[in-house]
Amino acid sequence: MSRTSIVITIDGPVAAGKGTLARNIAQDMGYAYLDTGSLYRATALRLLRSGGDIDDVRAAVDAADGIQPADLDDPKLRDEGVGNAASKVAAMPEVRQALLEYQRNFARYPPNGASGAVLDGRDTGTVVCPDADAKLFVTAVVEERARRRFEELKAKGEDVDAETILADLRRRDERDSSRAVAPLAPAADAYLLDTSNLAIDSALQAAKDFIEEKLA
Ligand code: DC
Repeated sequence: MSRTSIVITIDGPVAAGKGTLARNIAQDMGYAYLDTGSLYRATALRLLRSGGDIDDVRAAVDAADGIQPADLDDPKLRDEGVGNAASKVAAMPEVRQALLEYQRNFARYPPNGASGAVLDGRDTGTVVCPDADAKLFVTAVVEERARRRFEELKAKGEDVDAETILADLRRRDERDSSRAVAPLAPAADAYLLDTSNLAIDSALQAAKDFIEEKLA
């Protein structure tokens, strides 16, 4: 794809910290930010709201095709039920295909005249933007990711159980990594950032150092 915008991709498993890193980096560099997971969530939410069957591929593709930027800010996207439905539509190759253009357009023509875009997700460096200028793959051991998710939910006042969260993350890792289309995997040229033993500040510094070097 020929483009003049700078594209940075940040992929990784659930709760590795990629969203925090991506948002920070985008803000720092004045780039537009796209949480690609929200597209799958918005697809699922549109489908649920229209009363469609979550296993109906045609209805799911219609929902994906109708997504508007405002849909990505809906607070309902974060609901547990929407997350589960999102993982189902995300396994449909037709839905992934339908959302590909949205993501590539965002990277090629970042909104509000931004000179670059940061995309985070599972396959942004491998499938969506294989020619990205800098690719990161952010990970952490599952126990640490579960611990962070537990603290995050507890801080929100939710009644959570540590063992259930750990089991849920393991299940989601397995589903994301083993699906036939665009499974979670680092791009060959991605910088691997393991945040298991890193505080957010150190992780952010390591990511920025890598990006600076790549863009120099
Ligand atoms: O990161 P998240 O929990 O918001 O993602 C929601 C679902 O979408 C999750 O099942 C993984 C999937 N997803 C994907 O398949 N590809 C992406 N680029 C981003 C998310």
